[in-house]
Amino acid sequence: MDTKIARIIDTTEYGNTLDEAAKIILSGGLVVFPTETVYGLGGNGLLADAAKKIYSAKGRPSDNPLIIHIAEPKDAENYAFTGDIYYRLAESFMPGPLTVIMKKRDCIPHSVTGGLDTVAVRCPSHPVAHALIEKCGVPIAAPSANISGRPSPTSAEYVIEDMNGRVEMIIDGGECEIGLESTIVKIDGNSLTLLRPGAITYDALCCVCEDVKIAPAVLEKLAENEKPLSPGMKYRHYAPNADFVLLDGDDSDVLEFIKKEQVENNCAVLCYDEELSHLDASLSICIGAKEDLNTQAKKLFTALREADKLGANKIYAHLPTLDGLGLALYNRMIRAAAHTIKKV
Ligand code: TXA
Ligand code: MG
Repeated sequence: MDTKIARIIDTTEYGNTLDEAAKIILSGGLVVFPTETVYGLGGNGLLADAAKKIYSAKGRPSDNPLIIHIAEPKDAENYAFTGDIYYRLAESFMPGPLTVIMKKRDCIPHSVTGGLDTVAVRCPSHPVAHALIEKCGVPIAAPSANISGRPSPTSAEYVIEDMNGRVEMIIDGGECEIGLESTIVKIDGNSLTLLRPGAITYDALCCVCEDVKIAPAVLEKLAENEKPLSPGMKYRHYAPNADFVLLDGDDSDVLEFIKKEQVENNCAVLCYDEELSHLDASLSICIGAKEDLNTQAKKLFTALREADKLGANKIYAHLPTLDGLGLALYNRMIRAAAHTIKKV
């Protein structure tokens, strides 16, 4: 299939790009579009066949459900059974990087929800995503626009790497502001369960709801045969081709260890900006200053893709702390590393 690549530089001037994109989606085709988190691989969320096409373009198992993207928080009413907590979350965090799981209504096909009776709903703040959903007039079902298992794409370059020839259109809206996928919560009565941490932090959720649980799979490996709360938790994710190992220890001990590994074993490293001058620059990728978690979040997935291109067979990185946005970084990095943590 020929993929049309359309660049939107000025988000107030879409030309006819969005008309074309909406036409493709309404006729059952696929369009990759930018969001504030990562790029999404979008299709009509009311069409079972569009969901099938998404699974096949991504190479994703069809039991792993899709998020539906809506233009306004109140649109969730048409697709899910909302309630008081949903509206409290919406008031504080929507539009923005939060996905809420609720019981689904019949109009959402089971192929979109991987056979589940719940549906994940998100109202993105990115102007292009918002305008596209509004123009379509239907919810857009969209997973991250990577081939299944690879890091989510945060710029069009990586979308093209994975999706060229697999979708009708790619809208290039530049770099994604946040760089990690949305926070996912499931509503259960009056409580919330955090299934995937993101830019809306655990502490921020606790300001809206008194009872927020963290699903065990956010921090730990699922036990053999354990049924996860979110099907996506059981799949290997974000993984570079090289072995990826997280280092747990004092910063100075970690730096000494990676310096030695670069010299002796030609290993690559994702390092903090302030460490670069002590390291072999040809084997090092900076992910931001140590205290700057926003930049680390924005750069992580690109760094994982680029680290592979350095040709090393092992990649090291610091084990993040669990505070604030650190929880989201930790969650993505332990999964990319298949839970391999080395104490130094
Ligand atoms: O930021 C984001 O959320 C991006 C952008 C494109 O919006 N989307 C994204 O989608 O990350 P995806 O499909 O890559 O990740 C969605 C996760 C999957 O792990 C899936 O298992 C889980 O959400 N999920 C979706 N619907 C669910 C449901 N009904 N119950 C439990 N988990 C669900
Ligand atoms: Mg994904």
